[in-house]
Amino acid sequence: MKILLLGKNGQVGHQLQRTLLPLGEVIAPSRQEANLADLASLQRVLNTYAPEIIVNAAAYTAVDKAESDEATAHTVNAEAVKVLAEYAKKTNALLVHYSTDYVYDGEKAGVYTETDATNPQSAYGRTKLAGEQAILDTGCQALIFRTSWVFSAHSINFIKTIMRLAVERDNLSIVADQIGAPTSAELIADVTALAIAAHKKSAIAYGVYHLTCAGEVSWHGYATHIVTKLMENGMALKLPGTQQIRPIQTEEYPLPAKRPKNSRLDISKLSKALGLEIPHWTTYADRTIAQLTKTEI
Ligand SMILES: NC(=O)c1ccc[n+]([C@@H]2O[C@H](COP(=O)([O-])OP(=O)(O)OC[C@H]3O[C@@H](n4cnc5c(N)ncnc54)[C@H](OP(=O)(O)O)[C@@H]3O)[C@@H](O)[C@H]2O)c1
Repeated sequence: MKILLLGKNGQVGHQLQRTLLPLGEVIAPSRQEANLADLASLQRVLNTYAPEIIVNAAAYTAVDKAESDEATAHTVNAEAVKVLAEYAKKTNALLVHYSTDYVYDGEKAGVYTETDATNPQSAYGRTKLAGEQAILDTGCQALIFRTSWVFSAHSINFIKTIMRLAVERDNLSIVADQIGAPTSAELIADVTALAIAAHKKSAIAYGVYHLTCAGEVSWHGYATHIVTKLMENGMALKLPGTQQIRPIQTEEYPLPAKRPKNSRLDISKLSKALGLEIPHWTTYADRTIAQLTKTEI
């Protein structure tokens, strides 16, 4: 079975390079060969490789830049996804795609379920929702995984940023009124492989699923956890302790793109569909921090 992996060098794509291997022949073209901003090049790649499964981990993920460059973000996150979905519909291929908590406005009091109304507040969120809709409109076989706050030992993310800041600074100010679930790229890639295996046995329903780690935390709580672990792991920091991490409100740290204050996603639909007990975010975060403290700093 031929599997086309797009976005192989991203956080999730990097992990997928490993987890897709037992499922078939993985073809992972470079960004130059399969440029999602160039729809003709994408079509050529589909025609050349004729995959039976497409895993699309490529996306325009520069959330703040998208505010002033929505057209490019829309091409990559929506129009290119429509090309993939139309190919999947025509050839009966499976399309696996990733989306985001930013499709919600974050105003709900409780945890979001997949059937809750979407209402993106940013250009990135609008383009990602348009990508989801393009897939659903074609009626192709598709699994759309909405995830949040992705981290890995690979690439830039919140864990690596806090590590750097804790080495450079003696105090930090971190947003405390946005809540979500930090999610490991390893988990996303593992679950993707399980879902594809289930698809091969016709044992999973197509559609939208939330895919995050279990648990929830604010960015401030997340930073505090990271620094605690760095200290436990014996890393030399300029930051004297977690007392020097000041909780602030979103308004005190203005950014171009509006973030949802509530990014909590209910993962029970996916857990039931695949029979999973999805681990707490700290299980994965602690593994990643241990890996980073040994290898990179
Ligand atoms: N990161 C998060 O916190 C987060 C949260 C919610 C949802 N998601 C979703 O999860 C998925 C994976 O995210 P991630 O964190 O792994 O993203 P990432 O690390 O930013 O990687 C994105 C990948 O897309 C590739 N890409 C960007 N523009 C492209 C283009 N025009 N043509 C071809 N490839 C292109 C990048 O290539 P280069 O390596 O060449 O730049 C990179 O490999 C995305 O759908 C994202 O929207 C992420």
